[in-house]
Amino acid sequence: MDKFPNMDALLINNQAFQLFLTEAEIMARIAQLAQQLNADYSSRKPIFIAVLNGSFMFASDLLKAIQFDCEIQFVKVNSYQGMQSSGKVQELIGLNQNIANRPIIILEDIIDTGLTMHFLITDLLRYEPESLAVCSLLLKPDALKVKLQIDYVGFEVSNQFLVGYGLDYNGLARNLRQIYQAV
Ligand code: IMP
Ligand code: MG
Repeated sequence: MDKFPNMDALLINNQAFQLFLTEAEIMARIAQLAQQLNADYSSRKPIFIAVLNGSFMFASDLLKAIQFDCEIQFVKVNSYQGMQSSGKVQELIGLNQNIANRPIIILEDIIDTGLTMHFLITDLLRYEPESLAVCSLLLKPDALKVKLQIDYVGFEVSNQFLVGYGLDYNGLARNLRQIYQAV
């Protein structure tokens, strides 16, 4: 397929998408976020906790612009239907390092209802980190169902479905360099 990753419009499983954020726009905003983090965390040696799968590209590009000593861990939030009628049970997997008394920065691709992030924050606080900050490339403020403190946000977007740059539609499109919106 010709220039697949840089097209202005594309079709994924019969759903049309159009260009929403170019690679240059994403990179410019990530550079600004990194600048903020460089100012806030120098000599604090934080641990970034990147939430898979969606945040892998964001985490990679952001970390390349970080200029202080830091570590990175990758975690996943599994959700499954529980036995109780209350519905979904969430489980954090992959954390294999003691985060007690360390500054933590959670990296997410997108916060939609905020339920995943709310679960993560609650779960990670049990380990008593020194501090806990949230850095999300994208945020849908109108979709939030819980109150959250989100410290660093790349782009606030309306309630639209986005793909690319780590974000998927039925597992596809994570590899795209740009971000597309469903049309
Ligand atoms: P939340 O728990 O509703 O905030 O959803 C968080 C997760 O849902 C994100 O980490 C994404 O994996 C997924 N998600 C939410 N909105 C989108 C979207 O527009 N495109 C792709 N994935 C999304
Ligand atoms: Mg995600």
